[in-house]
Amino acid sequence: MVTIKSAHEIELMRAAGKILGKVHQDLGKELKPGMTTLEIDRIGEEMIRSYGCIPSFKNYQGYPASVCVSVNEEVVHGIPSKRRLLKEGDIVSLDIGVMYKGYHSDAARTHGIGEISTEASDLILRTRESFFDGIRHALAGNFLHQISAAIDRCASGYGYGIVRDLVGHGIGSKLHEDPQIPNFRKRSRGIRLRPGMTLAVEPMINAGSEKVRWLADDWTVVTADGRLSAHYENTILITKGLPEILSLTEDEAEEGIWLQGGIA
Ligand code: MF3
Ligand code: CO
Repeated sequence: MVTIKSAHEIELMRAAGKILGKVHQDLGKELKPGMTTLEIDRIGEEMIRSYGCIPSFKNYQGYPASVCVSVNEEVVHGIPSKRRLLKEGDIVSLDIGVMYKGYHSDAARTHGIGEISTEASDLILRTRESFFDGIRHALAGNFLHQISAAIDRCASGYGYGIVRDLVGHGIGSKLHEDPQIPNFRKRSRGIRLRPGMTLAVEPMINAGSEKVRWLADDWTVVTADGRLSAHYENTILITKGLPEILSLTEDEAEEGIWLQGGIA
């Protein structure tokens, strides 16, 4: 069932999203070569709790950490470890969920560590671009899969592989709600979008093949061909007008990035 949030619920989702944007902004600046992925999780969890929030992912279906940290060929759900050190040239995806007064916000960003290859920086920027192409269609009255098709068009246009085994989702008092939001074209139209729906749209894009596999820890998803993967996710609100992006970082909000290029 796809829920429509009340004005009060929307206020709480806005608050959760704003905190999450701040956590992403601040945690992104902490990343440096030599740091362990466990340190990222520790700092992230402390930030989340400092805002009176609970990390949505910790203990979710047994996931052991607050921040999913996925390096290079890791697509999503990497488990922070004291043995995994970041090094110059790596790309690292941070996926974070926070719960504020019972409402969740979910967002992901991929960062480069020091100087990264052109292949890597193109992948990061174009993954973000595919998100914004997608949500230009996140308008009341449109069909859900218009978002999916637009993400697909953008990422496929660059020759990238779009992960099919994982999808975006509705979000609210639960981390994962209906509907599922694929990042690829479907034959079906999906549900019709209505004001008050809150959605986590999250393209996971591979430099090479779309194929992924799971590591033996049963969490970490990696590209089957070992090539790079990037992730960009925000929690958004469907309104009567343009979608509201609830989890932007301050830098992104200032840039006003997302309306560049107009809407669909
Ligand atoms: N952002 C992820 C998602 O939407 C959540 C990670 S699931 C967890 O699927 F178990 F790792 F928390
Ligand atoms: Co998500």
